Amino acid sequence: MNNFVFNNPVRVYFGEGMMQYAMDMELPRIGKRVLLAYGGGSIKRNGVYDKVVGMLKAAGKEIVEFPGITPNPRYTEVQALAKLARENKVDFMLAVGGGSVIDCVRTAAVQALLDEDIWTVEVERHELPKEAIPMGIVLTLGGTGSDMNWLAGINDEERHEKVTYAGKHAEFDIIDPSFTKSVPMGQLLTGVFDTLSHFMETYFGKGDCVSDEVMESIMANVVRNARIIKENPENDKARSELLWDSSLAFSGIPAAGKMTDFQCHSIEHWISGYTDANHGRTLAVLHPVVYRRLCEAEPEKFARFAEKVMGIDTEGMTVNEAARAGVQALEDFIRELDLPTTFEELGISTDDELLQTIADHCLPNGGCRVQFARDDFLAILKECAR
Ligand code: NZQ
Ligand code: ZN
Repeated sequence: MNNFVFNNPVRVYFGEGMMQYAMDMELPRIGKRVLLAYGGGSIKRNGVYDKVVGMLKAAGKEIVEFPGITPNPRYTEVQALAKLARENKVDFMLAVGGGSVIDCVRTAAVQALLDEDIWTVEVERHELPKEAIPMGIVLTLGGTGSDMNWLAGINDEERHEKVTYAGKHAEFDIIDPSFTKSVPMGQLLTGVFDTLSHFMETYFGKGDCVSDEVMESIMANVVRNARIIKENPENDKARSELLWDSSLAFSGIPAAGKMTDFQCHSIEHWISGYTDANHGRTLAVLHPVVYRRLCEAEPEKFARFAEKVMGIDTEGMTVNEAARAGVQALEDFIRELDLPTTFEELGISTDDELLQTIADHCLPNGGCRVQFARDDFLAILKECAR
């Protein structure tokens, strides 16, 4: 196994009706002035906003609001949120939403305590944040695993890049599966694929160990429950399991002992930076295309994936045939979830100049079994645009 440090300090409150208990436990620990940040209004329509505000007020908190965080949150939104936090001298930041709200809050919580731009500190000087305003999370959408993570993806409009910033773990993470019932099925399944992607990008990285066996179980659980929830959105058990699968992905446990891959994610970040494409749907397009290449380099691992995760009976197949069957089953599964498999289905431009520009930026990731060169990235992008 590779050496690792395991530390996940997030207190998770999981289950329907857990928010009152969680707030009773957590609100006495935090200061009086709370910055409540959320997205475009889904929490007002599904009643989560009223519940959160009611509990904050009952605990005597003063609330400063920051609504309107967009999917693929922008650097300018981070700056505006940080400014509001600073001006109001808030003690705590509460993110109520999915990955975009969480990431915007996590980055702003660091920026608010810096005298210079976080881009200068983290991207130019490669420094990790020393401090941040403490934050908490009420999760309303699974998939990103951002709730148990300490990272944040922010779209930099000027540089056309989704930059991954380092922040701090949240103090607490409230996951009530019933809060996700208003998520449209397409969005829900997009999140499910993002979850699967996080596990695959860890599983196919270097350093095979016990974590791979843990991940095989969880990935099989994701595939099984995705099929159940698509068929029956009222299945609360499947909904709950998918949400916990999502959070587990970035809990630190799957990555323990591994050198992660995350090549598809790093290509996606450039595509998203240039086109504002949806994160999980872009990954759905990329994975089979990238894995058709990786499975030739690591057929044993892909054959294992075919059997343990995709449930293929590989008896009588050669290792290479089993590996390819695993990738084909993944692509079939993506179609079964009604997710896109081409850039056209994703709804982004396939303009040659754009693909060339994106390929110019892509870099190989150390944990990936194949070290792609610029021409390989272009070939991958062109295959996605087929
Ligand atoms: O904005 P509102 O009105 O709330 O609507 C949102 C948004 O339109 C809606 N939604 C959320 N909860 C809902 C709901 N609609 C109905 N009912 C609810 N309960 O869903 C839409 C998408 O929300 P968003 O937060 O953008 O989605 P997601 O959670 O997939 O987050 C995507 C972002 O997370 C980043 C991605 O790059 C992307 O920017 N990621 C963050 C990671 C991390 N920090 O560790 C890792 C991931 O790989 C990913 O990169
Ligand atoms: Zn992701």
